[in-house]
Amino acid sequence: MRMSKMKKIIVGNWKMNPSDLLVAKKLFLSIKRTASQLKKVKVVVCPPFVFVSDLKKLSGDCVLIGAQDLFYEEGGAFTGEISPSMLKSAGVSYAIVGHSERRNLGETDEIINRKILAGLRGGLKIILCIGEKLRDESGDYLNFIRGQMATDLKGVSKKLLKNLIIAYEPIWAIGKDAPRAASPDDVIEISIFIRRILAQMFGRDIAMSVEILYGGSVDDNNSNDFLKDSGVSGLLVGRASLDSDVFNKILENAKNV
Ligand code: PGA
Repeated sequence: MRMSKMKKIIVGNWKMNPSDLLVAKKLFLSIKRTASQLKKVKVVVCPPFVFVSDLKKLSGDCVLIGAQDLFYEEGGAFTGEISPSMLKSAGVSYAIVGHSERRNLGETDEIINRKILAGLRGGLKIILCIGEKLRDESGDYLNFIRGQMATDLKGVSKKLLKNLIIAYEPIWAIGKDAPRAASPDDVIEISIFIRRILAQMFGRDIAMSVEILYGGSVDDNNSNDFLKDSGVSGLLVGRASLDSDVFNKILENAKNV
């Protein structure tokens, strides 16, 4: 798959925001207005679970709905959890798995692996987040990413990999306290590295066809640098997805890449 031919995919991860459904609807409708003009950009919004059904009703087919997590069992005594089939029946088509904020709450690569297997088997497109805490001079961060991929993707069949997207989200570049976003050079190094690991695990064709996103302090000033120069076909946007002016600019910018 040639990167330049692929539709760009921009994912907004709202995290635990906003606190009010009316605000969520207003933000969503503004994004939808912009998305409906953009044929070459795939727009995915990942709201908190409780807003999914209401936003799905508003979504039409120009904004796809994603979940921020899922659970690996199909049903039963798992208080507070939500299964892939529940998500599907609520109209969700994408799910983020392994976000660093969930890893920080104790989610291990083994749990993430179970979630990926369940989500893919349940017919969802999975956005797997990986990324190092620190960039050390000796290059240990590459081993760290290799280790995440080896465990997270264990046992995933080649057939299901077409529904896998990998988001490179270096933890040092995420959130309001991040000193900076990664640079396109940082990201291209990792996107090549991710494809190399995928090739070793699943073969070259799959390595070239899995979509890779970048996430971490993306805004309307830097979004196109990543889309043009870092070997990724899309972006996972946190804070900037909560400001409709900024997020809509990111979408508009993406159509010109
Ligand atoms: P940020 O978050 O854009 O606010 O840095 C990105 C993410 O955590 O997905």
